[in-house]
Amino acid sequence: MAAIRSTSLVQTADEVNRCKISDRSNIDAFLAMDVLTAANAKTAAGHDIVHMEVGEPGNGPPKRVIEAAKRTLGHRPLGYTEALGKPALRRAIADHSRNAYGVPVDPARVAVTIGASGAFVLSFLAAFDAGDRVVVPEPAFPAYRNMLQALGVEVVPLSLGPESHFKPTRAMLSALDGPIHGLVIASPSNPTGTMLDGDELADLADYCAANAIRLISDEIYHGITYEREARSMLEYAPDAIIINGFSKYFCMTGWRLGWLIMPDDLIRPIERLAQNLFISAPALSQEAALTAFDCGKELDLRLDVYRRNRELLLNNLPAAGLERFAPIDGAFYLYADVSHLTDDSKAFCDRILDEAHVALAPGADFDSVNGHHYIRLAFAGSSECVAKGAERLAAWLRRQSPKG
Ligand SMILES: Cc1ncc(COP(=O)(O)O)c(C=O)c1O
Repeated sequence: MAAIRSTSLVQTADEVNRCKISDRSNIDAFLAMDVLTAANAKTAAGHDIVHMEVGEPGNGPPKRVIEAAKRTLGHRPLGYTEALGKPALRRAIADHSRNAYGVPVDPARVAVTIGASGAFVLSFLAAFDAGDRVVVPEPAFPAYRNMLQALGVEVVPLSLGPESHFKPTRAMLSALDGPIHGLVIASPSNPTGTMLDGDELADLADYCAANAIRLISDEIYHGITYEREARSMLEYAPDAIIINGFSKYFCMTGWRLGWLIMPDDLIRPIERLAQNLFISAPALSQEAALTAFDCGKELDLRLDVYRRNRELLLNNLPAAGLERFAPIDGAFYLYADVSHLTDDSKAFCDRILDEAHVALAPGADFDSVNGHHYIRLAFAGSSECVAKGAERLAAWLRRQSPKG
């Protein structure tokens, strides 16, 4: 039921009796998820919608993961696991990190979480108090900003644009006023795909270490890169919180499984929070994920699809007037400047969904300052879908006149 508030200073009997809604829940919606809901409603009404609004790999998990899940369902009761995850999976994640980055990781520092999303909740609660100030570069995954706000943490936006290739730098951090308690970065980033190189990560790590800033590095798109491999903050900042998960490279979005690697001082705080907030991550997903690290060959084939989709968009969109993109070093997003066409990316995406039947995410989701001039296309689906989406979008764009 919609909330109707009286404009009078005198409360009506109805208002006196109404239970309150917390101020902390009054955060922005995750707009891409709102688009998903609207697009699914259109599909249910019989429309043929091309989904490019959320970053969801078109193919499911590798075969061996599915087989492991089936075996587990048939033979094991699925109880709670330890709050920080099954020891075997924590060991497998530690081994994976050592193999990928050459940094030994004590499995005791690994927590298995309910998606990377669950890892954020645990990290933010363990590291920050209400009133602390945390820098979030924009554009960024909207949940960082929205979750921190719900926790009463002050978000300090750091506005990034094409002039810095959408990368945060030490100089930008040192130019900020006031105390800073934390910094959240992502490389490759969502929505831009931009990746920070080793020296850039090292620079941010040094600055944070020198200023007692808790560094949180979201590395969920590792494994999905096009020109060079991603470097991990693990290599440069032993005390950073590293967040990763099974949703993207491993194609297991709905299995709701992620992980974090935490510094020693946060192990017990995060364990206490995990016990009380979630008890444990899903046992079935944890059991099946044990096989995921052995599926590199199958998963790397999916990279070929993303690579083809990326080329297809980069080759076809400029002719339709979309020419200014963030550099897509990794992930599966194209973040395009549409400032010549609109000042309202949300209304723009609504129209594209209604008229072209292509679901896209508005930049306003990711950037409170400049997002009204951007749209994000997710190209993790099949090449047929991406080609169809690009064709429809290009045809629609050709019919638009420049704004104003
Ligand atoms: C940068 C980034 N981090 C985290 C997540 C959430 O991942 P999960 O499905 O593991 O909760 C996403 C999802 O799109 C993302 O883009």
